[in-house]
Amino acid sequence: MTATKAPVLAPDLEAGLRRLKLAAMRRTAPGLLVTAKTQRWTPEEFLRTLIDAEIASRDASMNAQRLKAANFPVIKTFEEFTVATSSIPAGTLDYLASLEWITAKENLALIGPAGTGKSHTLIACGVAAVHAGLKVRYFTAADLVEVLFRGLADNSVGKVIDTLLRNDLIICDEVGFAPLDDTGAQLLFRFVAAAYERRSIGLASHWAFDQWGRFLPEHTTAVSMLDRLLHHASVVVTDGESHRMRQAKSRTGAAPRKP
Ligand SMILES: Nc1ncnc2c1ncn2[C@@H]1O[C@H](COP(=O)(O)OP(=O)(O)OP(=O)(O)O)[C@@H](O)[C@H]1O
Ligand SMILES: [Mg+2]
Repeated sequence: MTATKAPVLAPDLEAGLRRLKLAAMRRTAPGLLVTAKTQRWTPEEFLRTLIDAEIASRDASMNAQRLKAANFPVIKTFEEFTVATSSIPAGTLDYLASLEWITAKENLALIGPAGTGKSHTLIACGVAAVHAGLKVRYFTAADLVEVLFRGLADNSVGKVIDTLLRNDLIICDEVGFAPLDDTGAQLLFRFVAAAYERRSIGLASHWAFDQWGRFLPEHTTAVSMLDRLLHHASVVVTDGESHRMRQAKSRTGAAPRKP
């Protein structure tokens, strides 16, 4: 049995496409030339298919780059989110998934107890935004403050903030899990003030806004930060039993035993 030889591109065309860094065209051209001949494509049809292949390949690689840069701890999507077991209304989820709030440079604040889908929703928004061509960066509040702190050492906080603001959406998860000291609170305020009306911040916290004094040492900083965060924001309050607990119960058939 003789194997049919894979079509190859003329060496000068191969070299030209390599030099122009048109990798997808170079990959697909040999096969497309054969198809075009056998199916009698018009020259325009052939060119269009070749260009579409390059565009699709570049879009996919930009998408993958943005997804990596977003630094999500785990990938979560709206498709995986069960509306029926969530306290977040379907209409709210639809609005968040539309990403209109990011285009409008508005914020999103998810407030509620553990396991009620806050991080899932934030990450799902982030993943959808990446797929829509937007730039996203995920942080926990502790990590974000640490990044800003590092800027203090070499006087580059402004630069660090400018770099963060190259993203369309900055996610700040787990706000208030650990208390902030004066410097941490000031740095976070500086970032929120810089992002105000310029970029979207998506945050999640266990603490209702009137409890933010529990982790922000200074009352006026807390008030000024919330004033900016909430001026243009969707506030979503989550409620109910922890999804983690519900899954643990359904696995064991009963409530998990206390240690
Ligand atoms: N409505 C839902 N549909 C599907 N999965 C869900 C839903 N709500 C939560 N989950 C899942 O349950 C787990 C916990 O949810 P998530 O991490 O979003 O909780 P959280 O509100 O951020 O909690 P914490 O405050 O402890 O960080 C995750 O694996 C998440 O994917
Ligand atoms: Mg969470």
